[in-house]
Amino acid sequence: MLYESKAYSLRCSVHPNSFHLILKASQKLCVKKPPVFYLNYRNIQGKGIATPTLLLAFSKFPEQESQDISQAAERMEMSIQVANCLFGFFLSDILSADLLAMIANISGCLPYMLPPKCPNNCLANKYRLITGACNNREHPRWGASNTALARWLPPAYEDGLSQPRGWDPSIRYNGVQLPLVREVTRKIIHVSNEAVTEDNLYSDIIMVWGQYIDHDIAFTPQSTSRTTFLNGMECQMTCEKQNPCFPIKVRFLIPSREIPGMDCLPFYRSSPACSTGDHGILFGNLSTLNPRQQINGLTSFLDASTVYGSTPATENKLRNLTSKEGLLRVNVKYYDNHREYLPFTDRIPSPCAQDSNSSEGERIECFMAGDSRSSEVTSLAAMHTLWLREHNRLARALKNINGHWSAETVYQEARKIVGALHQIITLRDYIPKIIGPDAFNLYIGLYTGYDPTMNPTVSNIFSTAAFRFGHATIQPIVRRLNAQYLDDPELPNLHLHEVFFSPWRLIKEGGLDPLLRGLLAHSAKLQVQDQLLNEELTEKLFVLSNNGSLDLASLNLQRGRDHGLPGYNDWREFCGLPKLETHTDLNTIITNHNVTEKIMELYHNPSNIDVWLGGLVEDFLPGARTGPLFACIIGKQMKALRDGDRFWWENDNVFTEAQKHELKKHSLSRVICDNTGISEVPADAFQLGKFPQDFKHCDNIPGMNLEAWQEFYQEEEICGTPKSVENGDFVYCSEFGKSTVTYSCQYGFRLQGAEQLTCTNKGWNFEAPVCIDINECENEINPPCSPSTKCINTKGSYKCLHTDPYKLSEDGRTCLGNAHFLFPVSANTLVMTCGITLSLIINCRKKTENDNSPAKKLPSCKQTDVFHDMTYIQSIFQLWFRTT
Ligand code: HEM
Repeated sequence: MLYESKAYSLRCSVHPNSFHLILKASQKLCVKKPPVFYLNYRNIQGKGIATPTLLLAFSKFPEQESQDISQAAERMEMSIQVANCLFGFFLSDILSADLLAMIANISGCLPYMLPPKCPNNCLANKYRLITGACNNREHPRWGASNTALARWLPPAYEDGLSQPRGWDPSIRYNGVQLPLVREVTRKIIHVSNEAVTEDNLYSDIIMVWGQYIDHDIAFTPQSTSRTTFLNGMECQMTCEKQNPCFPIKVRFLIPSREIPGMDCLPFYRSSPACSTGDHGILFGNLSTLNPRQQINGLTSFLDASTVYGSTPATENKLRNLTSKEGLLRVNVKYYDNHREYLPFTDRIPSPCAQDSNSSEGERIECFMAGDSRSSEVTSLAAMHTLWLREHNRLARALKNINGHWSAETVYQEARKIVGALHQIITLRDYIPKIIGPDAFNLYIGLYTGYDPTMNPTVSNIFSTAAFRFGHATIQPIVRRLNAQYLDDPELPNLHLHEVFFSPWRLIKEGGLDPLLRGLLAHSAKLQVQDQLLNEELTEKLFVLSNNGSLDLASLNLQRGRDHGLPGYNDWREFCGLPKLETHTDLNTIITNHNVTEKIMELYHNPSNIDVWLGGLVEDFLPGARTGPLFACIIGKQMKALRDGDRFWWENDNVFTEAQKHELKKHSLSRVICDNTGISEVPADAFQLGKFPQDFKHCDNIPGMNLEAWQEFYQEEEICGTPKSVENGDFVYCSEFGKSTVTYSCQYGFRLQGAEQLTCTNKGWNFEAPVCIDINECENEINPPCSPSTKCINTKGSYKCLHTDPYKLSEDGRTCLGNAHFLFPVSANTLVMTCGITLSLIINCRKKTENDNSPAKKLPSCKQTDVFHDMTYIQSIFQLWFRTT
């Protein structure tokens, strides 16, 4: 029997009684489309140059765990919508907690909604977990990676649940339509590359620090599906709004558009989060009416996730596990005057640009770091590289003075110091310059200790609007300087678009030093009301050739609507600022009245203004680089990140007084001195100065003395050195005056035996444990390989072996068929994908072999079809999920 699929509308083309037929059909039809990134791999191989959409997808491509979560969440959301469709429009009345629990479980969401297991050993107070979980003992998911961004105000969706503002053009806001975001960009935000006012106080590296630190705390993955869930249309090929496509409509065609003639730019909605709850089993309050939330793939904490990652899998890839010095992996092919570079990504061929003069076959791939966006621009890649070097420098020095430390101890101690330095540079040197002294005192103030009632989770408004203020401080030109801080004819100025995803320019054009000198000695761009974003960002974002472009300003505005951010005035009220009702009110906070004029022309009412734009055009506070609204949001967020972090560097018992004293001496300038060939820097890297008068020799830049970390080792007389274990390590940890050691295993292994050993007068109280290999192939909940491949367990990992006629694609999880047809390797994913492509399923038309007549549309369910028999509903769901 053959089945054909044809898309009709979701609401609602199937009667519950027909469900068993559909079930069968779905077995044949449920084929998951690969994520946009992998689909386009062949484009890279073919034409050699990646399109801007592909580059954005690459930089917004979540790593495996976020991917699993976002797909699970998409499945769950879609399943609930479909259940709603199948069983009636008043689902919340009839859908029991049990059924929701079942959907959560089968969609794959459940494991991510349960509270994490927090370790109860000595180390739990010594080092933060890589996921950020268990920082707060009462709320272990606060600030953890892959949880929902916090909402400080309820979301504003057009349907109250999920539909972005501006989705339905017939909906009016204060009597008018919202303007198209691209029109806002064209008329208010965009300026030419020449229209730049230089910041007279701050250097260009302050912009880089902003972006770098943002990538420590916020990463909102976008849907990994490249097609609409309902009818499988490619988002790149359609201007229709259908999840996850939310195309940016353009009034005037953009000549360099990827698909000529289309009047929109592609936009993928951010993935929804599984559930917003953070505690216990939450089905009591898991309602179908929970509005859509978005995920933060990173830990919220300022903890150098950029260097170490936010999940065990990423951390494992970044560490050099064979070194005794607790080092991070480095590039084995290229060095910068004997100094290290970041390793290349393992997702090859990566979409990064290649040097057109490179020798045959030579490829410089995108870098791999704790955050996946490290190659986005060369300045960001340089900052990541600096901190990789700083970790390895510290680790070697720590091992040197503490020969008895295990590799794990050295790694964790260096990681702890690097994390503390990120916090110090951000809160002491960066934030006061951005929000100004008054807002700093008002919203942040002096540190008074850890506050366990403070939720540190990064908020949606911070990452989707306020902290994107930095986009208005980006110079359109990249400058590189020689050792005398002079222009170098060998290294001409570049347009920003020439450094997007171009790690080769670091490696082949002089390494880090010339670029960092350019950033230190040139000013940042000043955010000026009628000079917001330059054409490099609005017309040439991620352009590597003339194969299309994106527009960062429109992406920001559309993202705000996608996330359901309430309008500008709601946020002003949230911050206790007066609501602006009229054009005249607006003129009181925006000095440039031409700008107010243009804003009112497009938005008609101040309450309609998209919050990113509203915050961006406010007059600066005194001594600040933001207006009152963004200063409030950034200030509140920073306070939450500081006071809600149990491992904050100033909190009691995190560092000794002597160590804190040393940490305070350190600075970004010192990090540059210690890890590059640069010998003269400004004392404060963010402060703009003239060379040579405002620069200091590195000998005069203070730094830490690591002796404060020296531990004098006296071997336990009775117990001796603890036994080392294969594929694991131990860390000394004193608790209640007793000497203890805690063991842990490498990723892919699990501990068998006692985790913690204490020295007693009879020796160690337990035998040392062993690390045993985890057999990933036995994971039934989320099998790593598809039924079409054979899962082979290997030591610490697994392999998916393809069986003809399929071969494994570059992602290592997807099967590539003869006809270049991709489908997912994971059986579970396969099942669940049925959840998200259910419209295909429910719109299946039955067609027998001899039946040539046009298939009939399945009967529609109407509101009157509401189905109240819970047992039946449950069994249908169970059956559906099991059999597909
Ligand atoms: C050349 C420099 C930069 C480039 C090319 C760049 C590009 C981008 C892009 C493409 C996005 C995703 C837009 C979307 O689809 O929603 C983004 C997000 C973001 N950017 Fe930038 N950006 C730069 C600098 C900065 C700076 C200086 C800051 C802050 C001071 C910043 C803060 C952010 C934030 C907070 C997000 C949201 C992150 C998330 O939640 O995923 N960016 N940026």
